[in-house]
Amino acid sequence: MVGIGFRKDFAEEMLQNNVIKPAFIEVAPENWIGIGGFWKKQFRKAIEQYPLYTHGLSLSIGSPDSLDFEFLKKVKNFLAETNAQLYSEHLSYSKCDNAHLYDLLPIPFTHDAVRHVAERIRTVQEVLERKISIEIVSYYSPVNPEMTEIEFINGILAEVNCDLLLDVNNVYVNAFNHNYDAKQFIELLPMDRVSYIHMAGHYQVSEDLVIDTHGEAIIDPVFDLFDFSMRRLKRDVPVLLERDFNIPELDELDKEMTRLNAIKTAALKSLNYVTA
Ligand SMILES: [Fe+2]
Repeated sequence: MVGIGFRKDFAEEMLQNNVIKPAFIEVAPENWIGIGGFWKKQFRKAIEQYPLYTHGLSLSIGSPDSLDFEFLKKVKNFLAETNAQLYSEHLSYSKCDNAHLYDLLPIPFTHDAVRHVAERIRTVQEVLERKISIEIVSYYSPVNPEMTEIEFINGILAEVNCDLLLDVNNVYVNAFNHNYDAKQFIELLPMDRVSYIHMAGHYQVSEDLVIDTHGEAIIDPVFDLFDFSMRRLKRDVPVLLERDFNIPELDELDKEMTRLNAIKTAALKSLNYVTA
């Protein structure tokens, strides 16, 4: 099952013409909580037609500040009202000293941070009364690391019973920029914890730097890494096509979704797993 990030840029076209038929849509709760008028109606229409997955932006799971419980309450209500199938967040922070930094910053790969983040995920799950899925984010320079990225992620997953959102493009981007093997990294992940996959394009800035922009088409090596991931995963999980900027005609997005579906189906079929 392949879904798409629901964007205002193509909402009307998608809802009226059915040019693309995603298996589900994904939104950031922050962008839709409390919205009224025209967009409220459009959103209602969208969630009547498609199952909803959510991907938060401002929980700031790695922040040293205390959690925003008022905000969490709003998220909890939103998830209930919209019958959201899943809530995911970035393994990053976007708030410090109570100021929003408007960016998703990497958490330092330290022992303290592993304990801190695991504790916060536990609290969030208790408040929301559901498991959340934590996304591997792209980062451009590690901050005083005491361990590798994979040790950091696996350390958190060992301490708290949450799920993992495998963003295949982010793994590709990090492996490229930090010069490690993306497949080896995926091999070291506990695939039984993966509940959701993100796929996106990125922008190549120079010979040795790529940036995760969600503004380009997915490139072939990322499709290959997706195929590799599906063969490691050995089961069907929802896959999202993320496209936030530089949005092309909808049939271009449709082609990408079709290709993702085909890769997934072929990979699982080769393992004798029949997709729903
Ligand atoms: Fe993502």
